[in-house]
Amino acid sequence: MISLKDVYKNFSGEYALNGISLDVDQGQIVGFLGPNGAGKTTAMRIITGFIAPTSGSVTVAGMDIFRHPKEIKRLIGYMPENNPLYHDMNVHEYLIFRGKLKGLTSKQIKNRLTCVFDTCMLHDVANKLIGMLSKGYRQRVGLAEALIHDPPILILDEPTVGLDPTQIRQVRDLIKNIGTERTVILSTHILPEVEATCNSVVIINHGKIIAMESSENLNKIHDTASRITLEVQGNITRFEAGLSAMLSCIWNRTAYIDDNRAVYLVEHTGGCIDMRETLFKLAVSTGCILLEMHREKATLEDIFIHLVTDEPPHTGGQS
Ligand SMILES: Nc1ncnc2c1ncn2[C@@H]1O[C@H](COP(=O)(O)OP(=O)(O)OP(=O)(O)O)[C@@H](O)[C@H]1O
Ligand SMILES: [Mg+2]
Repeated sequence: MISLKDVYKNFSGEYALNGISLDVDQGQIVGFLGPNGAGKTTAMRIITGFIAPTSGSVTVAGMDIFRHPKEIKRLIGYMPENNPLYHDMNVHEYLIFRGKLKGLTSKQIKNRLTCVFDTCMLHDVANKLIGMLSKGYRQRVGLAEALIHDPPILILDEPTVGLDPTQIRQVRDLIKNIGTERTVILSTHILPEVEATCNSVVIINHGKIIAMESSENLNKIHDTASRITLEVQGNITRFEAGLSAMLSCIWNRTAYIDDNRAVYLVEHTGGCIDMRETLFKLAVSTGCILLEMHREKATLEDIFIHLVTDEPPHTGGQS
């Protein structure tokens, strides 16, 4: 549905996008995740035809953005960053106005209004001035505006920014609902948002795609044990010698209970690798008793930080 090939964008000598290639299939909800300045908004503005790439090709529904800009705009509903709205219009008037700007007839607007008011749950505020609405309702108006011409594609730049947890949940549910029939790309800094809303995630950093995963895969990585807390009783000197001899392993003695008992934090430097069996065998071979073994899952945040910096998923030292 959306295809980017080797897309570069240069702003006054600096590259905001550094060769991005990406295919988004129909019906997918894709999350763009990345730190400030990564290039998420730039990529979205290029797909929506608001700015042109410096080089590379972009097609939407098989059409090139340079050759068919108008047709493509009709296919896309775009909610920009800091969604600008007219505060002195009421919701109803504003959506009619936007529908007209998008070339809809009065009849089409009437039909679509009922639909977007239902989808975005705006009936209660139809006659309220936009300036009087809470941020969450304004986001819903922004979504309604993006949906008014019934586009098969939605591009949402940080749709939940600034919302309270209840409103975040409402807007996420709304996006999920909308995404059952449409292709959606959204950007966010909120990692759980991607898990909660998207089928796949594209992690962007310094204008490059550094990871592209289905949410299912992300969950698998997320679910893999990587950091383990152990309480060991016995000859802890031998146990520690065994730990030190293990390749790709860093460990800390986090508590020293007595000469025969201590607590350790062990992790694999190679990332999310399950070390439980190895550690169990080490305890047995050094004649120690494992009083406790507890694994901590790598959080999505760990994975994200690992990808956007060169840090390993967890940091730790050796005592
Ligand atoms: N119109 C512009 N003129 C010059 N530089 C720009 C322009 N728009 C974006 N940039 C630069 O391009 C880079 C990417 O910006 P972009 O807005 O795409 O990042 P982002 O990932 O959306 O960040 P954020 O999470 O803060 O919204 C930044 O370094 C930014 O300063
Ligand atoms: Mg942005």
